[in-house]
Amino acid sequence: MHDASAWSQDTGQDDPGAAPEVDLTKPSIARVYDFVLGGKQHFEADRRAANGFINALPEAPQIAKDNRNFLRRGVRYLVAEAGIRQIVDIGSGLPTEGNVHEIAHAIDPSVRVVYVDIDPVVLAHGRALLGDNDTTAVITADLRDPESIFGDPAARRLIDPTQPFAILTAGILHHLSDDEDPYGVADALKQRLPVGGHLLVTNFLDDDEPRAQRLERGFIDGGLGTGRFRTWAEQRRFFGGLEMVEPGLVYANDWRPDELTPTGSPVHTLYAGGIGHRAV
Ligand SMILES: C[S@@+](CC[C@H](N)C(=O)[O-])C[C@H]1O[C@@H](n2cnc3c(N)ncnc32)[C@H](O)[C@@H]1O
Repeated sequence: MHDASAWSQDTGQDDPGAAPEVDLTKPSIARVYDFVLGGKQHFEADRRAANGFINALPEAPQIAKDNRNFLRRGVRYLVAEAGIRQIVDIGSGLPTEGNVHEIAHAIDPSVRVVYVDIDPVVLAHGRALLGDNDTTAVITADLRDPESIFGDPAARRLIDPTQPFAILTAGILHHLSDDEDPYGVADALKQRLPVGGHLLVTNFLDDDEPRAQRLERGFIDGGLGTGRFRTWAEQRRFFGGLEMVEPGLVYANDWRPDELTPTGSPVHTLYAGGIGHRAV
């Protein structure tokens, strides 16, 4: 039995010794996200960057909560309904409440999960998990370089690429600028999926133009330096070549809502999500 608290442990305070290779003077997306979710793994630079976009739109932190809620429902669908038993969670972020392996293992403890993040702070905080759960691994790798993910020994050990698996990209593709070819990055990931493989995507949405544009500036100029709000047409490109799982690409809280899904979210129109699968 795995120890969920190892992944979701609270290391507690501003502890610069936790990950010596990390530059604490610059904001990290993972730590800023942890701050807006109410976690404790953040430093002054992260809080300043978060306030840069919270000043632009005070209700912005609800986007993170809506996203986590989508992720919970999406993983439950993948495991309970689509029969997925292997998951690669790219841009997994810091441990928080309701981690992907906890959601999956509540349905089937044999599901294998590889957490991937570019930020070594995620590995530092996830490392405790490695010793006591042989179905779960945490690796440091880059979304833009799929081989750094799928060629990693831990990923090769846990993921059989010939069998259906799911790639999760929740709240990460919007951190790629247009110059970084986000659609080409998504295509390279989709090429790894066998028939029956699934891709989960959630992103900032530009369907509510004044607020989306104000918040985008708050992210990009407010200190974090990244956070692109893309239109529905742009979002659809991430799923090109895949069949959409019902109800398709929608406002995140409209995707198979359940009794825990936030209702009346003030940022309902600023976030989109969907799941596609490779049918042929
Ligand atoms: C907003 S968090 C999302 C966390 C989690 N997926 C969720 O939806 O709750 C985005 C994460 O993506 C990571 N990230 C950003 N760029 C990345 C890249 N090029 N490769 C891998 N991870 C990246 C960040 O370090 C951060 O932890």
